[in-house]
Amino acid sequence: MALIEVRSDGPVVRVTLNRPEVRNAFNEHVIAELTEWAQSVPGSGARVAVLAGEGKAFCAGADLTWMSKMVAYSGEENERDAMAMSAMFQALDTLPIPLVGRVHGAALGGGTGLAAVCDIVVATDDAVFGFTEAKLGILPAVISPFAIRKIGIAAARELFLTAARFSASRAQQLGLVHAVTSSAELDPAIDAYVRELLTSAPEAIAGAKKMISAVSGRPPAEVAELTAQTIAKHRVSEEGQGGMRAFLEKRPAPWVA
Ligand code: COA
Repeated sequence: MALIEVRSDGPVVRVTLNRPEVRNAFNEHVIAELTEWAQSVPGSGARVAVLAGEGKAFCAGADLTWMSKMVAYSGEENERDAMAMSAMFQALDTLPIPLVGRVHGAALGGGTGLAAVCDIVVATDDAVFGFTEAKLGILPAVISPFAIRKIGIAAARELFLTAARFSASRAQQLGLVHAVTSSAELDPAIDAYVRELLTSAPEAIAGAKKMISAVSGRPPAEVAELTAQTIAKHRVSEEGQGGMRAFLEKRPAPWVA
């Protein structure tokens, strides 16, 4: 049985973590499947991805049965394994299409890490987040750059150290979650985001994602050339020209189905 289920519905691809018996905890096989999927996205025709979890929870983080077995690995094997996990987060983080997280139940440890690499997260009002690693004698290392970028240093110092679980509404205050809904409203809210994203231009989206990460944390003067080059490229592109012309001629943009 596949550990992740990938279903395409036109330009929308739905990726569902599929180990409900362990609350979708990820081991090396899930990591390999998710990384492979992320690497297959460019050129696939997909324009929006939705990441969800099967069963009671979104994701209980790294599989503790798998991680506890590391004691029998050499230091080198152990680090190689952790690098594979890092590569998975990196591949998801740099997808050229929007990644929308559909969070219900628990999103703990690496599950909160997965939320951190989504562009948009919608969570149910009873969802629970947490960087729980320190409660287990470990720490949120691999996910830390992605998490800190979203929640900031002050919250990271609190939440990595207390390892306390926190609510969807706290996650929203921290910028980890964009919308909180009832369970019944979760899918309609996701669908509304998906519809909105499909009316934005694909190359503009991919360019915006790259640009956000290239300019963030840098002084405006230092990135002025990069931002000028970026708009200069997009406004003369076929997509940019097509989109602006459609607006001026009062018709839908070419990428709007
Ligand atoms: N790794 C491996 N197995 C896990 C797991 C994880 N991260 N999280 C849950 N499981 C397993 C449990 O051991 C249990 O196995 P069992 O049926 O053989 O006893 C099964 O999944 C169901 O878990 P359970 O705790 O009974 O389910 P629940 O719905 O009551 O609670 C959670 C779900 C996710 C809230 C709870 O399991 C939990 O807190 N997990 C730990 C999450 C965590 O701290 N992750 C950080 C990892 S770095």
